[in-house]
Amino acid sequence: MEEKYIEIFNYVKSVLSCSAHNMDHVLRVYKISLEIAETEKDVDLDILVPSALLHDIARVKESEDTSGSVDHSVLGAEMAGDFLKSKNYSDEQIDKIKHCIRAHRFRTGNYPESIEAKILFDADKLDAIGAIGVARCLMLSGQHGQRLTNHENMLEYEKNNIVENGRIKDLAEHTPIVEYETKLKKIPSKLYTESAKKMSKGRMELMNNFFETLKDEIKINI
Ligand SMILES: [Fe+2]
Ligand SMILES: [Fe+2]
Repeated sequence: MEEKYIEIFNYVKSVLSCSAHNMDHVLRVYKISLEIAETEKDVDLDILVPSALLHDIARVKESEDTSGSVDHSVLGAEMAGDFLKSKNYSDEQIDKIKHCIRAHRFRTGNYPESIEAKILFDADKLDAIGAIGVARCLMLSGQHGQRLTNHENMLEYEKNNIVENGRIKDLAEHTPIVEYETKLKKIPSKLYTESAKKMSKGRMELMNNFFETLKDEIKINI
């Protein structure tokens, strides 16, 4: 990583402690972002790299909140803006980075418009599918003391535990199977870049296979 980004990296490291959204995730998203950037035109790495490093800085605050009102993409954009102001970033750069962070979240009304925001969105979603996606989903599930499944009526569950902005109110009530059914399964149809779409194929095959087998083994129909 270039020297100029090390300070941002260290700042992120000091605020991230959640198991599935730790520095390993941040570094994978950073690497996948660079991989996708190589296949796209006119990508500003001075926008993309800080966005990738900072995108989940408010994740711990969102996890700690059980009211459903904290959205880590919205709060994270503000935290990133405040941090970058003290690091010689221009207002224009800060606005662009804040847009990328605000629009990186799957369950949100803020959609990526710039190429950097689309790349970050895709890189972050690729890290939620495939073998790594299964592993992260189960890590998060263990962290919040979830069961594998406890909601046979998905509509009822979504009404009670997923609030308007797509936030999950009580993570302890969530389950890996609900996460797969309501979010992970839909990821390939939401991707923006051609290279991410290609990369998603093998990953989804593995993930679908895992969750369909899991559902079959615990006999649940959704
Ligand atoms: Fe995120
Ligand atoms: Fe992320």
